[in-house]
Amino acid sequence: MKQETLEKLTSILKNRQKELRSHFTPLGTDCYRIFNRSYSNLPLLIDRYGAYMHITLLEGEEQFALSEDQIKKIAGALYTPVEKVIIKTRESLTEHQQYASLDDKQEKLTVQENGLNFQVNLHDYIDTGLFLDHRKTREMVREESFGKSVLNLFSYTGSFSVYAASGGASRITTVDLSATYLDQAKDNFRANDFLPGAFEFVQADVFKFLEESAEQKEKWDIIVLDPPTFSNSRKMDRTLKIQKDYLELILGCFKILKGGGTLLFSNNLSDFRFHKKDFPSGIKIQEITDLTTDVDFKNRPAHKCWELTGFLQGRTGHEPKPRRTSPDRFKSSKRAPRQGRDSRSKY
Ligand SMILES: C[S@@+](CC[C@H](N)C(=O)[O-])C[C@H]1O[C@@H](n2cnc3c(N)ncnc32)[C@H](O)[C@@H]1O
Repeated sequence: MKQETLEKLTSILKNRQKELRSHFTPLGTDCYRIFNRSYSNLPLLIDRYGAYMHITLLEGEEQFALSEDQIKKIAGALYTPVEKVIIKTRESLTEHQQYASLDDKQEKLTVQENGLNFQVNLHDYIDTGLFLDHRKTREMVREESFGKSVLNLFSYTGSFSVYAASGGASRITTVDLSATYLDQAKDNFRANDFLPGAFEFVQADVFKFLEESAEQKEKWDIIVLDPPTFSNSRKMDRTLKIQKDYLELILGCFKILKGGGTLLFSNNLSDFRFHKKDFPSGIKIQEITDLTTDVDFKNRPAHKCWELTGFLQGRTGHEPKPRRTSPDRFKSSKRAPRQGRDSRSKY
């Protein structure tokens, strides 16, 4: 990075941190995104997690790196000691690759978001345990949860479930393929003084869970469906590709959604296409990405989100079109003598 770029970057970081700190601190939040490629398209994400800075170098066409001196200057601009700066490189994966663990420190840090506590691990994996971009969506779930049953699918470390508990949900079901993530979800419940034993944690493949819950006629008021873009765990019978599978997942959720209930569907695939026409007309679909994107992600939203309500009934836009030759007004002409030249010659 040129000296001039570094100077501009550090000045942007200083101002941005000041702005975001005064916005988030009164809200009980100490983790937020400070830099999101927002200057000169630098392939860099900088997130604050409590007293730590978590910097992700994005692998693009050109290899981007930071020298020790540049890291010191960035840390200085963010008033953070260099020992509290963690730097990772996010490689672009091909479809069948998954991120390997980076370290095995197993150090947990507790951060605050909207007055709730979450445990993150900043060293060992590319993802920290808390996806900052869904802060607003989680808040929305908390506001809607009182007295409701909430199902959190692809739950990861259970952050949506913790918000549902904080909002007074009557039943919370947290589903993930990974026992490790479900244990972390339980830790997040405990970190907020909610007893995990009072709620359901299910280790399952969501595709199977949806089928079995429908067979058992289980229903929930609110369903959160925030799947990964791609998943091919050995614990699954199939591969999940969100663009191919979203319709099946959403329709599966509607089979177990209570009348009057809400499904929140989100994903992070940048060129994802939602084809409303594929859905039965009884399902009402509204994109709410604007509402679920908080100030620190406005310049570059990381997810897209939809609210779906209604029923699994009605037409999709894909029924076969009626054949043009068969309407009744043409059928009647078979009975009446035709008025054209041919009919005259026949009679
Ligand atoms: C991107 S995270 C989902 C983010 C999460 N919704 C949140 O709010 O933080 C992906 C999660 O999906 C889980 N997963 C992947 N495939 C799955 C499947 N078929 N059934 C259940 N969980 C799955 C992974 O174990 C991981 O915890």
